[in-house]
Amino acid sequence: MNLSAAEQALIRAAREARTHAYAPYSGYAVGAAVLADDGRVFAGCNVENASYGLSVCAERVAVFGAAAAGAQRLVAAAVCTPDGGTPCGACRQVLLEFAAAPDQFTVWVVSPAHVIARYTLTELLPHGFQLARGE
Ligand code: THU
Repeated sequence: MNLSAAEQALIRAAREARTHAYAPYSGYAVGAAVLADDGRVFAGCNVENASYGLSVCAERVAVFGAAAAGAQRLVAAAVCTPDGGTPCGACRQVLLEFAAAPDQFTVWVVSPAHVIARYTLTELLPHGFQLARGE
């Protein structure tokens, strides 16, 4: 697979973020990174909590960091899991919220050592919920 410099940087950011995962309960460390349409990259890791339900996935940490920095048009994401695990359903919906073009939005699924798969967001979340605005 031939990756552009921007794609490689995005994947590198996801792998780096995974090293900061706080996952003492599941032992499943995840890193994620999102690419904004202005070229900025925002990374996140999963952050668990002793009250398990308060844990947040790496993808959502990355997306919310981007949104809070004013980067609300995202064009790609990378997620680094130990075993090629793909983003959970909730995170797919959160990615959709800020995806500039869901059918052109690439989601790279990687492990620390390998690129496992690439999908479009539409492949991962067909018929995702979008709120009709106005009226
Ligand atoms: N996790 C993520 O960070 N992203 C996903 O897409 C799937 C799951 C985290 C949540 C929890 O901290 C751990 O992985 C095990 O589910």
